[in-house]
Amino acid sequence: MSTTDVIKSTENKNVHYVKQYIKNVLQQEPGDTVTVKGWVKTKRASKGIQFIQLSDGSCFTDLQIVIDASKFEENLLKEISTGCSLLVEGTLVESPAAGQKVELSATDIEIVGSAPVEDYPLQKKGATFEFLREIAHLRCRTNTFGAVNRIRSKASWAIHQFFNERGFHYVNTPIITASDCEGAGEMFYVSNSLAVENGEYKLKNKNPQEDFFAKPAYLTVSGQLEGETLACGLTNVYTFGPTFRAENSNSARHLAEFWMIEPEMAFCNLEGDMALATEFIQYVIKYALDNCSDDIEFFNKRIEPGILETLEHVVNSDFEHVSYTDAIKYLENSGEKFEYPIHWGADLQSEHERWLTEKKIGKPVIVYNYPKEIKAFYMRLNDDNKTVAAMDVLVPKIGEIIGGSQREERHNVLVQRIKEQNLEEEAYWWYLDLRKFGTVPHAGFGLGLERLIMYITGMKNIRDVIPYYRCPRNADF
Ligand code: 4AD
Ligand code: MG
Repeated sequence: MSTTDVIKSTENKNVHYVKQYIKNVLQQEPGDTVTVKGWVKTKRASKGIQFIQLSDGSCFTDLQIVIDASKFEENLLKEISTGCSLLVEGTLVESPAAGQKVELSATDIEIVGSAPVEDYPLQKKGATFEFLREIAHLRCRTNTFGAVNRIRSKASWAIHQFFNERGFHYVNTPIITASDCEGAGEMFYVSNSLAVENGEYKLKNKNPQEDFFAKPAYLTVSGQLEGETLACGLTNVYTFGPTFRAENSNSARHLAEFWMIEPEMAFCNLEGDMALATEFIQYVIKYALDNCSDDIEFFNKRIEPGILETLEHVVNSDFEHVSYTDAIKYLENSGEKFEYPIHWGADLQSEHERWLTEKKIGKPVIVYNYPKEIKAFYMRLNDDNKTVAAMDVLVPKIGEIIGGSQREERHNVLVQRIKEQNLEEEAYWWYLDLRKFGTVPHAGFGLGLERLIMYITGMKNIRDVIPYYRCPRNADF
């Protein structure tokens, strides 16, 4: 059978997008006739009966297809193998297997696309996550990555719902920008002056003024600065978009491209910011618990035993608030041997964050009021002149999941902070304007979506919670 023949034979049944998902079929009654479409996860045969596990990604459980081999062409049954796509019609019958009410007794089977056994890379169960990263284009067909993608989708939906219910406007801030929000210089340039000739980069012109944007431009590291301008007019806003950081990090919690959610609230201070961050995380986790229970059960069994209990606990308990100064005291008196020495003024490293939230507190912690030297220029200076109104939410196993602050709304103080950090005042003219015209106390934070998904699923590497990961030396697919 050629590929064209196969496509022709299913043409009439494939005219519209799928509306009958396996998720719904599994809830139907014995006796119902249904048509399902999906990919074969496994196939086994026993005494003239063949069993196929079919998945369309709509839910964790596969639909079991039961085939009476005597009723089908031998060649057709032979061609069905792991990975091939099928259209199956049949009648639902009561399933003797545990965990599912019904299975499908096939009356008609069409192979939509075959998957030659000798070539299909996902033959065996138990492939390592490292191996699956090399076939990222196929890994969503596995149990783990199906579940990760479903939770990511549901969490994203919950995020929009959370803000929508609270009157926040969803705003889109630019992906190409001329300002470095975090001042960390970890930006990818955006230029049309660069070309590849004979395998080498060639600069078409050296003068930024002659480049596409007539100045150096970058992929944004955060939508915050523009978000602030929108909050100072729309009151409560949030962004939800991709952000980019050229940090040369191969850690299990950093990506070069990740998705960030950044609410920004006018007439709000640090306390309000921390309260919203807590409510937000609890809401999204509760939504996942209520709407992705099968997937979370899988993570609880196979990936991170105890994750279910942890999540239920997080939803129902307050987050601990600890000032940076107190956090340093705890760390200094911990008796632990840290790789990075700790003292007042030092930035908290992942090992410190994890000790605080895992060992000292045992639940999410919000650390606030950090030294101004280690935080971005836009954070509001506290009266002690030494710390800024910053806050980071830390969670066990991951460390920082949210970073936020009250913003400096006083024009003169902000100018001073820009100078102190050796930033170009002129570049921030529009940002400073906000402090000239109707300035208000305001605050916001950024949540890394991938870190949240790691937290909910217990997945240990951030590269496994986004369909295609970007990190040093990886922009394949
Ligand atoms: O702490 P960050 O750098 O804060 C900001 O960008 C602020 N402008 C946010 C704001 O106040 N509107 O980043 C915020 C969060 C981190 O807590 C982390 O969850 C995530 O973004 N994040 C990363 N996630 C994956 N890979 C990276 N390289 C990340 N860098 C930050
Ligand atoms: Mg941060």
